[in-house]
Amino acid sequence: MYRRLPSNLPSPAVTLSVDGVAVSVRAGESVAAALLLAGHSHGRTTPVTGAPRGPYCMMGVCFDCLVAIDRIGNRQACMIEAREAMRVERQTGTRQIADTGQIDSGQIDSGQIADTGQINGTRSP
Ligand code: FES
Repeated sequence: MYRRLPSNLPSPAVTLSVDGVAVSVRAGESVAAALLLAGHSHGRTTPVTGAPRGPYCMMGVCFDCLVAIDRIGNRQACMIEAREAMRVERQTGTRQIADTGQIDSGQIDSGQIADTGQINGTRSP
């Protein structure tokens, strides 16, 4: 579906993995290019409907190219240059959050959590 345009520029290869499969791209190419060259039309699915989303604008506008890179999620693949040994993983479904039973109090300024489950208080300016 996608093919690389011909170029006479010498360029060293960079090898990264997409979902555990090695992909070689030219130095300077984006992670989104590597995703497409690996044959993946999408890098994530939406959390609600599961609709596939893939690189569209290739210039940082649409946010449809989000992938996990080196275990950090929601990175814009089109804006990140491929590096040697980079681990790219496509994101599917909803995000998994560990249930530690604790609430980060740093998220709430001068407030408290009532037994009703509602958050009371005001945010400091
Ligand atoms: S492809 Fe549109 S933001 Fe990356």
